[in-house]
Amino acid sequence: MAAQNKPEVVKSSNPQLARFRRLPRQLRRRSPFSGSIEPKRVPLIALGSSRPTLPFPHPWNYGKPIEILETFFHNADLDESSSRHNRYLDVPGFTPVLVTRDPALIRAISMMTGDKPGMFDRDTLPSSGIARATGADTLLYANGAKWKRQKKLSTPPFARTSLFVPERFHEFEETFRATVRKRLGAVRDTVAIKGEPLRVELEPEIKAIMLEMLVVNFFGAEVSYDEIRNRYVPALDTVINHIVRDTVVNKLGIPLYRVPSLTNGIAEAKEAQRDFERLTDLVIAPRVTGKGQWGQFKSDAPDDLLRGNIRVFLAGALEATTSYASWALSHLAHSPEWQDRIADEVAGIDSYSPESLASAECLNLALMETLRLTPSLYFHPRRATSETLVTTHAEQTIKIPDRTHILLDVWHANRHEDHWGEEITGHRADRFEPDRWNELERRGRSAKDMLHFGFGHGPRFCPGKSLGQLEVALVVGSCVKLFRFAAVNSHNQARAGVSTKPADGVRVDIHLRDRRDGPVSQTKSGSGRMKCPFNHGA
Ligand code: HEM
Repeated sequence: MAAQNKPEVVKSSNPQLARFRRLPRQLRRRSPFSGSIEPKRVPLIALGSSRPTLPFPHPWNYGKPIEILETFFHNADLDESSSRHNRYLDVPGFTPVLVTRDPALIRAISMMTGDKPGMFDRDTLPSSGIARATGADTLLYANGAKWKRQKKLSTPPFARTSLFVPERFHEFEETFRATVRKRLGAVRDTVAIKGEPLRVELEPEIKAIMLEMLVVNFFGAEVSYDEIRNRYVPALDTVINHIVRDTVVNKLGIPLYRVPSLTNGIAEAKEAQRDFERLTDLVIAPRVTGKGQWGQFKSDAPDDLLRGNIRVFLAGALEATTSYASWALSHLAHSPEWQDRIADEVAGIDSYSPESLASAECLNLALMETLRLTPSLYFHPRRATSETLVTTHAEQTIKIPDRTHILLDVWHANRHEDHWGEEITGHRADRFEPDRWNELERRGRSAKDMLHFGFGHGPRFCPGKSLGQLEVALVVGSCVKLFRFAAVNSHNQARAGVSTKPADGVRVDIHLRDRRDGPVSQTKSGSGRMKCPFNHGA
């Protein structure tokens, strides 16, 4: 941590007392923040303004979280001062909420998140639904000493040093590649037999491949692809949709198994939760034999201690990798030029070793640009554990009161012209332009200077980065190698829940890249109708 970022610790006060103490200031509408960074207040109600929605989640807007963040910055660009990137909500009787789309402040607060006294916590409020579905003692949800213990316990098998050891990597990568080849090979056969482009939504198929790679290849579990695609992917979808709704609606924090099955929705969510448990069992089962990456897991911690984290890896990693690969394919579906550039590059790559991955320059640029423009995790929640002075690299300061909820709004930071626009990168910030990274390099700005926070930053950085990048590069590289795909819809809007995804599910027309490719196997169903090429069991 930079010396200037050592937190100035002021002991945390009793929450009720704190609420009472801040009331007079709140009623006088004075800012709770001090320092050279001066966030501006957003009104709770702004009748007659064209704000997209109210600046907090409620049962009618929780499905549009990006609009809620946008509301904080409504008309902020008319403000010429530096505070245009920092906004707050301060309703009397409630804890203040600070929202920042300033990369310098996002970086400083991320670096000051951890288990030391005075550091920020990850705010558990936006993930209370996740905790009810996965357990609270997990790497994602826990804070302080519990988080540190979880980190030590659960991250080594995911680390670059475990995954990218040359003698182990090859075997491991080969099983991943075989999975991707098998699934995409089936699509290639279908297109070849059909003799014309195939219209599909790629996202559900990517999700099934990602879950297969995680469950079968990474954890060594014995589950058929049909079960993965037709049972576990829908179950996880239901669990994740339930998590998003539950976070906003279930204010009493009642666990799902205690809720009576009064509606079909609740009954379905309970059934999905049972499948989620079954999948967790299947993933833990190979631990005794050391199959998959379990051999790298040296801890003697009992299975029960790991279950919460396994659930987080299954649901969270699936969401994040599906989002990342879906966005990359969606951007490429709108950019034939970049598809061709990547296709030329990966034509000669047969195995995705760390070296070949590093040398696939166009693929890497496209993936980096994907995470910048459309980060899978669109905001990172933090909470002050004491009154904390934050100092950015440019020596800007802000004193943040104890318990403040903080939303590090990566989505809007990454697409703002001030930070990533033509003046700095040579390209408009809201466009998919992988070349901007070359331009930045030409201008002497490294990726280290220009953080997009796609995998987070600081102590709570993503432990699954190496695994996730490998999976995404394999899926995207293999798709581009086999197919040309064109977007059906000209605009790819975002939808967001736990992560962001292209709103149209990556609806594309797929053509074979090399028309000389004939079918490898017959995949036509008996009725003469085209089977869904990914759905072998249906
Ligand atoms: C490739 C796609 C992925 C993306 C874009 C991604 C993104 C992120 C980001 C941005 C964070 C930090 C959030 C914050 O600061 O609040 C994070 C944390 C985390 N990620 Fe990932 N992730 C990906 C894949 C994975 C995979 C494959 C796993 C595990 C198998 C994983 C497990 C986790 C966990 C457990 C945390 C919490 C770490 C902590 O709090 O110490 N992620 N991820």
